[in-house]
Amino acid sequence: MRTHLCGNLNETLAGETVSLCGWVHGRRDLGGLIFLSLRDHAGIVQVVVEPDSPVFSDAERLRNEYCVRISGTVRQRPESQWNEAMATGKVEVVAEQIELFNTSAPLPLLMTDEDGEEIRLRYRYLDLRRPRMQRNMRIRARMNQAIRNHLDAVGFAEFETPILTKATPEGARDYLVPSRVNPGHFYALPQSPQIFKQLLMMAGMDRYYQIARCFRDEDLRADRQPEFTQLDMEMAFVDESNIQDIAEALIRAVFQDTLEVALEAPFPRLTWHQAMQRYGSDKPDLRIPMELVDVDEHVQHVEFRVFAGPAADPGQRVAVLRVPQGADMSRKEIDAYSDYVARYGARGLAWIKVNDAAAGLEGLQSPVAKFLDEAAWNGIAAATGAESGDILLFGAGDWLTTSNFMGHLLVRVGHDRGLTQSGWKPLWVTHFPMFEQDEDEGRLYAMHHPFTAPAGDDPEALLADPGAALSKGYDMVLNGAEIGGGSVRIHKPGMQQAVFKLLGIDEQEAQEKFGHLLEALKYGCPPHGGIAFGLDRIAALMAGEPSIRDVIAFPKTTTAQCLLTDAPSEVSDEQLAELHLQNRKT
Ligand code: AMO
Ligand code: AMP
Repeated sequence: MRTHLCGNLNETLAGETVSLCGWVHGRRDLGGLIFLSLRDHAGIVQVVVEPDSPVFSDAERLRNEYCVRISGTVRQRPESQWNEAMATGKVEVVAEQIELFNTSAPLPLLMTDEDGEEIRLRYRYLDLRRPRMQRNMRIRARMNQAIRNHLDAVGFAEFETPILTKATPEGARDYLVPSRVNPGHFYALPQSPQIFKQLLMMAGMDRYYQIARCFRDEDLRADRQPEFTQLDMEMAFVDESNIQDIAEALIRAVFQDTLEVALEAPFPRLTWHQAMQRYGSDKPDLRIPMELVDVDEHVQHVEFRVFAGPAADPGQRVAVLRVPQGADMSRKEIDAYSDYVARYGARGLAWIKVNDAAAGLEGLQSPVAKFLDEAAWNGIAAATGAESGDILLFGAGDWLTTSNFMGHLLVRVGHDRGLTQSGWKPLWVTHFPMFEQDEDEGRLYAMHHPFTAPAGDDPEALLADPGAALSKGYDMVLNGAEIGGGSVRIHKPGMQQAVFKLLGIDEQEAQEKFGHLLEALKYGCPPHGGIAFGLDRIAALMAGEPSIRDVIAFPKTTTAQCLLTDAPSEVSDEQLAELHLQNRKT
């Protein structure tokens, strides 16, 4: 039907007859000449219809998004008419035949970046025709291809795991599917293939991967969808560093093959504690050239309780963010930052503007400088490297809360002041705490998931002091996004039971939920571990899109709806009855 793709035409084809298929991207009538832009997935090319052409009247009838075949001769444009912004900008096609496959109804959207998200999702098949979305989807396809090429080459095999299954705890709510043939029983859609991939290692499969759909009923954001795709991997006979080396080589290959980007090697590594201490985040964006600095030792003795209290308490901290040349920040801006950090639990945000670094305390402008003495200021100045024209922002209080709000502040100030550098900044975050404590309920939650191994091998030691335990879990972070997470797994039944116990899962519940895993651990389970990457997030980063919705063909809204198909939708009473369900809605 066609000889070439629109986007691939160039000067070397001048004089040749070509047939192109695609959509009318635009039409301009210029004093007897008609210019059409014709678009397919490869790009856009200009078509000229001359006044004496036998197809002139056909061309006059064309409108945007009509689907056509156009045959004609490729002609080099005179240099004065080159369009450098277009890949095909040095040529045009002189139309000789136009075949109309289909007209288009008037378009419900502009098909530009101006369109709102709702209309784009409602008419997704039109939205996806746009060059930007074509490019995004194809970056994603190239990424998948690169993943498969690399993993196949290094000895991984792709296996599929069930979608209709039993709950896997990854911290979200389950999507449930009622069983028609087992009244009152439900499948859960997998939050991840976690348990199955561990069982595959116990089954001797050695190195598994799967490009796997996962389902999580959780609050949605720009980087979260109710169904999303993981590159899921698991390996037997490996420790953390083996897994990290393999995962890192993979990501490097994927960036090379998809974007021709060479990521640094090896990726830097920070422990979770270091990441929180220096960046106030477990997913630091290393493109922002600022760090938090502790000044506890310099303010322990001052009269100001807001600083002196936390400085003297090992469970608290006084952290400073030095914003280079930030002294031009207005009161209004500072107040806005203060309100911003309050959302993350801050009780205030103290600040010092360094007007003249050489003048000591005299050179400062600040509501809190009056509480400081020379020794305190000299210590702060040396620790932060403060220079004239800088502003120092101070957070004080509980270590975790303060780290967290100062981390959010660092990113926000970095963005607001345009400090974020370009490029790719990957890193590993390791040595996570094993558990998180829920302050209200006083119970423990697994920081990763309940199958993650603790750093130590002794279940008794873990039971004795779970709060202090670190895990063999790790995350891969890229430009401030958590793109992957994994761990070495527990491979002994005793340790798995101890962890369930700490999580408040009693023996009966453990049997009901994970009896199959506990049993499998008894039969010569190898040491094993793995990782899962969020492919939607990686694709969005590669495409330079802030939302993962822009790299998913048919995504859902933040209220988990598909506006195109109108899912979820009501079902008939007959269907419910068949599934042994009754609608409680009146
Ligand atoms: P985890 O829950 O950290 O680990 O998920 C792995 C990666 O998946 C991505 N991700 C998401 N992407 C889009 N929408 C979501 N709702 C969403 N939730 C998670 C993130 C994340 O880093 N079974 C473990 C992995 C393992 O231990 O091997 C797991 O699922 O990029
Ligand atoms: P106050 O003594 O509460 O009036 O606070 C004096 C200054 O310290 C104000 O600039 C507050 O914003 C700041 N401040 C109060 N609490 C904190 C805190 N936990 N961390 C940082 N600054 C604070």
